[in-house]
Parts: sequence; structure tokens; C-alpha cells
Amino acid sequence: MVVIRGATTINEDTPDEIRAAVKELLEQTEKRNAVSRDEIVSIVFSSTSDIHSYYPAKAAREAGFEGASLFSAQEPEIEGALKLCIRTMLFVEKNITPRHVYLRGAKVLRKDITEKINVAIDGPAGSGKSTIAKALARDYKILYLDTGAMYRACALKVLEAQIDIQSEKEVEEILRVLSLEVKYEDGTQKTILDGIDVSDKIRAPEISMAASTVSRYPFVRLKMAEKQREIASDMSCVLDGRDIGTFVLPSADFKFFLTASPEVRAERRKKELEEKGYEVDFEKLKEEIIARDNQDMNREIAPLKQADDAVLIDTSSMTIEQVLQTIKKMIQEKI
Ligand code: DC
Repeated sequence: MVVIRGATTINEDTPDEIRAAVKELLEQTEKRNAVSRDEIVSIVFSSTSDIHSYYPAKAAREAGFEGASLFSAQEPEIEGALKLCIRTMLFVEKNITPRHVYLRGAKVLRKDITEKINVAIDGPAGSGKSTIAKALARDYKILYLDTGAMYRACALKVLEAQIDIQSEKEVEEILRVLSLEVKYEDGTQKTILDGIDVSDKIRAPEISMAASTVSRYPFVRLKMAEKQREIASDMSCVLDGRDIGTFVLPSADFKFFLTASPEVRAERRKKELEEKGYEVDFEKLKEEIIARDNQDMNREIAPLKQADDAVLIDTSSMTIEQVLQTIKKMIQEKI
């Protein structure tokens, strides 16, 4: 006897949705494990506390699973649990290695056995990208890659070398020999430049514009994009940047483009910098953000731009939680 696990989600708590989701889940489980209906001894269902309108066991009976003994239970309300989720355990009289089946939004529960997903979150400075990307990666238990940190590290190296940052040739010479590593400690990204952890140093206000300047140079961009693609090809991850959806990963599974008014973005950046102990002048910061956007939007290679197939979200008057829930809902509807 083997036990095959499975889970799926529905969009709304309606009998029709439950019937369709249960039928699909059971049929996929049969198909992927090559089991026939008479080999199924018993099916146990559990559904999250937000599902009331129908018994999954009844839906299974209606879908033709009549020979097996069926049982449905409801889970208690648990904070942070996946919404509208139905789980199954199929007890099968067969000697096989089970292939567990996770469909729709439930894929996020078992990233290890479902396909890899890449989420691209692009947008200008202060649009909320990094906060959202971090939270999303945490909730889905996948990697978060802050691509801006890589350009910031390049900028730091250039500034420390005290060369002319406007000279593409000089920058290229300095960055030709570059050891840039992205490591994770307790889920937090650490940026290691030439063997030194520069994660805090690259957040200094003067690095922002310099990062934007060096990121214009094709040599730098191609080098960084290659590293980012390498990381994304290996594992599921959320990447935030300016060109992820258009240039780094044009075939990313999910693409979002976040924006907010310059005032709101400058306000957020000010708060962030003040929390790190920097003194900032709001008007100056706002001007710098606008200048940086212009530079990022007008460079020749991979400019800051919304991909045609990216979902645009204006976060000006939204809370972090609202943006996060909007994005999660869209992801769960599609997978
Ligand atoms: O997201 P950030 O503020 O850390 O990015 C700093 C600069 O790096 C940004 O102004 C432009 C550049 N950048 C880029 O060109 N492409 C990316 N994918 C990420 C950042």
C-alpha cells in the first residue's frame, strides 16, 4: 500500500469550483501514478476553514470514485495558511514510488516537487519592489535576488578606485577583474565584493546614483545579467530590478511592474535612509530619485521599462500587505 499526497486550490468557495478542482486533482493523481480506479482503497480529504459550500468527498463520489472509502475533514483556521486549499491522501494498493500532485495555487506548498518559478518585479526606486520581493520570497520559501545590490557593488568598487565614473573605458578597466558573490545567511542576501561583505556599505546614499551610472555601460549590464540568469536558472526565485521582465528573464513566469508617485517614493527612501542613520533632505532626495529614474529609463541598453506582459501596480496609496496580497492572488490564480 502506498500513500499519494495531493493539493489544489479554488478561487471561490462554490460547489462547482470544488467539484471541478477535486475531479482534476484526483484524475491527475491517477494519471501521474498510472493507477487504476480499482486500486484506490481510500481517499482522505482535508480542506481549509474557508471552504464550506461542499464536501470534497461528495465531489469525489460524483466524479466517479465510488469504490474507495472517502473521508473529508476541515482544518482549523491557521494564520498564514494557503487560502481555499483542498488536500488529499490517496491510499493505493500498488507497489509504486508515489508521485505527489500539487496543482494551481497549492504548487507553492511544495516547490521541491513542482516546477521552478521565476517572478520578476521591476520598477523605479522606492516603488516598493524590494520589500514586496523579499516578502513574497519568504512566503513562498524561494530565493530573493536583489539585482540592484549587484550594480551597487560595482559602483562601490568604482568609487573606491577614484576613477572617472563617466568614463566607460576607465570603469570597464576597473570592473574587468571583479569578484562579486551573492550569498545567503539566514535567508538574507549578502553581497561580497572582492572577498569583503559590503552589504551595508552599498546602501550609502551616494552609491545610488553611481550604481545607476555604471549600470548604463553594456559591459557591466551584460556581466550582471549573465550572473542573474545563472542564479535564476538553477532555482525558483523572485528577482527585483529594472530590466528583469524585459531583458534578464523575458520569459519569467510572472512579471510585475511597481510604480508610485515621486513624492511617495522619496518619502519611503527618506524613511529607509533615516532608519539606517543617514541624514537626508527630502527635496534633494526627490530630485535625485527623478534624475536617477531618467537616467535608468533613457539608457540604451535594457532601460527601466514595463514589459508588455507585466502587471502594472501603482503602490502610491497601498500598504505593503495590500500589494503583497494582490500579487499573491494573481500568482495563485495562474499556477
Ligand atoms: O534597486 P536599487 O535602487 O538598489 O538600484 C540601484 C541602481 O542600479 C538603479 O538606479 C539602476 C541600477 N539597476 C539596474 O540598472 N538594473 C537592475 N536590474 C537593478 C538595478
